[in-house]
Amino acid sequence: MSESKSYENILVRTEGRVGIVQLNRPKALNALDTPTMLEVNEALAAFDADDSIGCLVLTGSEKAFAAGADIKQMAEASVVQQLNMVFLDLWDRLQSVTKPIIAAVSGWCLGGGCELAMVCDMIVASESARFGQPEINLGIIPGAGGTQRLTRAVGKAIAMEMVLANRHLTAQEALGYGLVNRVAPVEQYLDEAIKLAADIASKSPVAVRVGKEAVNKAFETTLAEGVYLERRLFTMLFGTEDQKEGMAAFIAKRPAEWKGK
Ligand code: CAA
Repeated sequence: MSESKSYENILVRTEGRVGIVQLNRPKALNALDTPTMLEVNEALAAFDADDSIGCLVLTGSEKAFAAGADIKQMAEASVVQQLNMVFLDLWDRLQSVTKPIIAAVSGWCLGGGCELAMVCDMIVASESARFGQPEINLGIIPGAGGTQRLTRAVGKAIAMEMVLANRHLTAQEALGYGLVNRVAPVEQYLDEAIKLAADIASKSPVAVRVGKEAVNKAFETTLAEGVYLERRLFTMLFGTEDQKEGMAAFIAKRPAEWKGK
């Protein structure tokens, strides 16, 4: 494990080929304000550009992944200020990260926090995780993709209840609805997420990158276009050294040595 650059609102470290970003505003239950989201974007982009890193983990504390966008920052905003703010774009910008991001979620995962977890590619939850979109209680609706990503993840019925009635999901419910990949005890969820990330980071980086791209495309396109893109990406991989190595290693019954080329 190694320490990296220090930030104001997040902690950043690596474990082997895994880059770990931890939200660190404990007094505000990791509420997400503009400086925090800028730091999250910067740190994840830095890991994305680093060839020694193969997969990313985004986490918070045991008590709160994040209790939402910072209400105190937004409370007095006018329509025009809200319109001109880059704030909510900072969630969508994370989609440009090419390496997989695993959200390791414990405790409160609400509003913009739930939206942040859903921008990630996978979610590992602790048994104490609580997912919700409580914006309705503030006289607003989710504004960082919640109505769209939640509906795609859990379906219309549950998404409606969460967005309109502030229904919270337990970790087990979230697992049942397909919002999260796995649930682990509180003492183990982060290790579990890092273990999953390390496993992904041990694969061919180029295949992992296009695999993420292809799966995410399923949410953006028609089936025919998605299958067409998949075929093109599949074909493209036959131009990589990793495809030759992976298949040669299988035939020779030895572990593959990936080059990311
Ligand atoms: N923004 C700003 N500050 C927040 C916050 C938020 N989203 N959530 C918690 N905090 C702050 C509290 O104001 C409090 O600060 P002070 O000690 O200075 O008063 C501190 O964190 C601890 O919070 P509580 O005392 O409320 O802790 P609790 O254990 O009693 O309750 C909670 C926990 C149920 C999560 C409660 O804090 C809560 O309901 N938070 C707000 C959740 C919310 O509405 N999130 C949606 C935000 S809007 C949004 O996200 C829009 C979008 O789509 C982008």
